[in-house]
Amino acid sequence: MSTRRRRVYKGCLENNGQLVAVKQLDRNGLQGNREFLVEVLMLSLLHHQNLVNLIGYCADGDQRLLVYEFMTLGSLDDHLLDLTPDQKLLGWYTRMRIASGAARGLEYLHEKANPPVIYRDLKSSNILLDEDYNPKLSDFGLAKLGPVGDKVHVSSRVMGTYGYCAPEYARTGMLTLKSDVYSCGVVMLEIITGRRAIDTTRPTEEQNLVTWAQSFFKDPNRYPQMVDPLLKGDYPVKALNQAVGIAAMCLQEEASVRPLITDVVTALEILAMDPGGSKDTHNTPPSPVEEKIAVEEIRRSVEESTEDRQCAVAEAIEWSSHCKDIQASAFRHLYVYMKAL
Ligand SMILES: Nc1ncnc2c1ncn2[C@@H]1O[C@H](COP(=O)(O)OP(=O)(O)OP(=O)(O)O)[C@@H](O)[C@H]1O
Ligand SMILES: [Mg+2]
Repeated sequence: MSTRRRRVYKGCLENNGQLVAVKQLDRNGLQGNREFLVEVLMLSLLHHQNLVNLIGYCADGDQRLLVYEFMTLGSLDDHLLDLTPDQKLLGWYTRMRIASGAARGLEYLHEKANPPVIYRDLKSSNILLDEDYNPKLSDFGLAKLGPVGDKVHVSSRVMGTYGYCAPEYARTGMLTLKSDVYSCGVVMLEIITGRRAIDTTRPTEEQNLVTWAQSFFKDPNRYPQMVDPLLKGDYPVKALNQAVGIAAMCLQEEASVRPLITDVVTALEILAMDPGGSKDTHNTPPSPVEEKIAVEEIRRSVEESTEDRQCAVAEAIEWSSHCKDIQASAFRHLYVYMKAL
């Protein structure tokens, strides 16, 4: 597996035969070393079924290696874009399950970690899949500890990947949890359309996925034109409307009106329920009850006052700041450390 900036090797641990992925970071540069430290610290302290496991690392001389659990099916982009003829096509419900799991990983970072963590690098190549297509977020080198107390943003040099970056972050360097929600909207679009966030091989007006998709958002009758042609129409139409609706909300220009990731998770979990079991059989509409719940959830996330929600989050943060478990105190050490970096 080769990449732009670094190499990833498949390996096997001698003592127990476990398969691992070994990532060799760029040898030169302060940024590489910083990313290495942040990745090791973050993944040592954060544990969730939708975050990749760090098994070990090596910092010897200028060599920086990270050893992860091996994710059998590689990254989401391998399954969505530039498919080889022998690759299995991702069905609609598998796509929704992947979106839902990735959003759950983000929810853990935003709502459960204390202080919250802004992931900053959500994109389809950083969503890894195990043998059952369960998604896990990887690459925490760019993650930032989020704002604490009354603050809603942290300032930072603009990093991340072009095409996934929230517009206000790209403009001002002001990073909020809502920057990740924006990137989640871009990934949703990739999942729905099978297109890259930026694709310079397409006609000019189609090169930027968000700009292209925005021209469809206002007219649900045109949503089917956005869908990945490889699905050959094999998706539930009403669920498509809801999926596009979620993406559109995440992609709103005004960061404060984007939904919280928790609302996105609730809505996506409903869309990920396959009424035909796990066989990814399509065209079976969601039951009227499920559909109603999904629509209600989406509506609620828009209508409920942000003030109430901020209060709830503040209470949760306040509550967890009193929590004296080791994890929380370790996290506070990390916070002090990262401020010093
Ligand atoms: N834990 C893992 N298990 C299996 N494959 C992995 C693992 N980590 C990475 N890979 C593979 O290596 C590829 C490259 O990953 P890498 O994170 O180095 O690059 P990237 O995500 O494409 O770009 P960026 O450097 O911006 O993160 C992934 O797309 C995936 O196919
Ligand atoms: Mg990556």
